[in-house]
Amino acid sequence: MNNSVFALTDHYIGNLLATEDNVLQHALDSIIQSGIPQESISPAQGKLLQVLMSACQAKRVLELGTLGGYSTLWMAKSLPADGKIVTIEADERHAAVAKSNFDFSGMSAKIELITGMAIDVLPELIRNKPEPFDFIFIDADKPPYTEYFEMALKLSRKGTIIVCDNVIRGGKVLDPKSTDEKVRGVQRFNEMLAKNANVTATILQTVGVKEHDGMAVAVVI
Ligand code: SAH
Ligand code: DHB
Ligand code: MG
Repeated sequence: MNNSVFALTDHYIGNLLATEDNVLQHALDSIIQSGIPQESISPAQGKLLQVLMSACQAKRVLELGTLGGYSTLWMAKSLPADGKIVTIEADERHAAVAKSNFDFSGMSAKIELITGMAIDVLPELIRNKPEPFDFIFIDADKPPYTEYFEMALKLSRKGTIIVCDNVIRGGKVLDPKSTDEKVRGVQRFNEMLAKNANVTATILQTVGVKEHDGMAVAVVI
């Protein structure tokens, strides 16, 4: 996909509208060097998260699936001085890379990294009845996306924007007989999203420097 017109166009968009600074470049380099998965969002997708955060004037952000903190840092850069991001990561190796990237960024005071399984951490967050989150990015493991979204709704208010990555999987969602559990997870999620009366939502196909995939964008109504 790297030399395709989609990848080249993604670079064009990135260079114009989503240029990475030193902090983001350092994070991406550290993710490559540490050998953890290279599944971070693209620069243009990072900018999309920032644009949507601006639309809802996000001060409180929740992220599921930190990896090396690349997406977290895009969002942190868009927060006001008194803003905060809570990000949840199950894998301790990934969390260690993220922590060092947060320290390097100078923004670690705005970022709370929780190491644990989202399915355990979210009920605990809900029990603590925090102020609602303004913006939520779901990008952890795919099979429980439906459960994650339902818990995210309990941490939301009217107007909260919820973005969910990887809901198209190269078009594999079109196969109703798929046995791939990631595909089955997002198929179940997309069908729930279509029926969920608490949100208005759509899915943007994403092509470019990453594989063909999609991001669901939902607004709580
Ligand atoms: N948001 C990141 C990419 C996340 S990749 C970015 O764009 O920069 C998905 C991450 O979810 C991986 O780091 C993986 O370890 C984590 N993950 C997988 N299962 C999880 C779970 N049950 N709870 C929390 N995180 C999980
Ligand atoms: C996968 C996960 C991601 O978050 C991503 O952006 C791409 C791929 C995966 O688990 O396959
Ligand atoms: Mg993803």
